[in-house]
Amino acid sequence: MKQTSFVLHGGTVALPGGESVADIVVRDGRIDTITSSGAAEHLGLPVVNVAGKVVMPGGVDVHTHMDAPSGIGHTTDTHRTGTIAAAVGGTTTIVDYAPQPKEGTLLDAYGTWSDKAAGEAVIDYSFHVTASHLYEGFASDLATLVTEGIPSFKVFMAYKGDVMLDDGELFDVLRNAGRKGAQINIHAENGDVIDRIAADLVREGMTAPKYHELARPAQTEVEAVRRAIAIAEMAEAPAYFVHLSTEGAVEEVAAARQRGLPISAETCTHYLTLNRSVYDAPGFDAAKYVLTPPLREQEHVEGLWRGLKTGAVGIVSSDHCPLCMHGQKSLGRDDFRKIPNGGPGVEHRLMVLYDAAVAQGKLGLTRFVEVAAAEPARSAGLYPRKGVIAVGSDADLVIIDPNGTTTVSADTQYQHVDYALWEGWTLNGAINQVYSRGVLVAEDGKFVGPEGHGEFVRRFKN
Ligand code: URP
Ligand code: ZN
Ligand code: ZN
Repeated sequence: MKQTSFVLHGGTVALPGGESVADIVVRDGRIDTITSSGAAEHLGLPVVNVAGKVVMPGGVDVHTHMDAPSGIGHTTDTHRTGTIAAAVGGTTTIVDYAPQPKEGTLLDAYGTWSDKAAGEAVIDYSFHVTASHLYEGFASDLATLVTEGIPSFKVFMAYKGDVMLDDGELFDVLRNAGRKGAQINIHAENGDVIDRIAADLVREGMTAPKYHELARPAQTEVEAVRRAIAIAEMAEAPAYFVHLSTEGAVEEVAAARQRGLPISAETCTHYLTLNRSVYDAPGFDAAKYVLTPPLREQEHVEGLWRGLKTGAVGIVSSDHCPLCMHGQKSLGRDDFRKIPNGGPGVEHRLMVLYDAAVAQGKLGLTRFVEVAAAEPARSAGLYPRKGVIAVGSDADLVIIDPNGTTTVSADTQYQHVDYALWEGWTLNGAINQVYSRGVLVAEDGKFVGPEGHGEFVRRFKN
């Protein structure tokens, strides 16, 4: 039943200033009142007792790839299956990457992705548009999209001959974006150097998946971040670094921010909780972790957590890019360069992070909510409609039982892919309910929401 007015009673509510035991009154899908525990029980609205549970804003995952071209074929989740997985995992808004077609424009990318998601997504959504080549009319299309509520675009400094921009093109895109109030999301890796190392490895017979890591040393990320910051400064534009994986890159971002530059950064769940040891798995199993940038030594993992603590890194995304081992990753059995890059994670991002950040105490509840919901929403131009429990915000709410547990398994996941990055992990904490605009969409690990419930959300950055 579609019930969008009710009271959540007595939960430990994660508010921006800290946690507080409170009642939340939801009316017509929005947060109407936040009041002391017990004060809203007699309003005549249905009451859901969440005493002893944590109530947080719905997760905001600003980096997903649904039904996106990758190698031969597409990522395996559609906007329907991927958003169902997101909802079950406590994420109520995604910002998905819409790739510019090889012969097409930024507007084509937006049109195609709008058609894919409309009526399919079960939670609210928006897009970043990936800019992989410049063309006559690029700047005006970018401006049109900003007006439409798409203020962010991704560019690649790797994958030469495919989507990589050279430094001049990067400067052009940044300069245009800066003038139009848009944000450029940068995939920062030195593509030229990576291609040469990878070719050398393969020539010497090192073709197994684990060599993906050796082909992309930490310095290929650190150098690209440093160069992109310099180019963004020359272009007088803000820059946002996606999927940072190294301590050195975090230090570059921190130094730039200290100089007052408008630089921000995200990392991903897998870089915080896994390390390069997975590449030592026997046979072809390491292909599960062929994602880009690769997983790193533990010292980088620690550096990323430090970045989250200090604020140099503000956002944790999933970079959900699901590709099956059978029929997709297997294409690179004889040459790691042919393994399509990416791993699944939209379903597990929130609870893997909750386990590490809250249950194991690496960040605490308030900072966890900041990096998993509030700052992603702020950075994407969705705040305060999304990412916060505040009067007037959408009633996107997640109820977590801190005494429960969650087991990750490919056999039971909703993600439409034949493995899970955290297979067999038992996480502290279990999601009881997930509400999207006041509608119950997931309960105790099951999707219970209406089909096609998701709405496109226009985003505006200030
Ligand atoms: O391996 C990854 N991350 N694939 C997704 C595409 C990207 O670069 O974000
Ligand atoms: Zn990327
Ligand atoms: Zn990505």
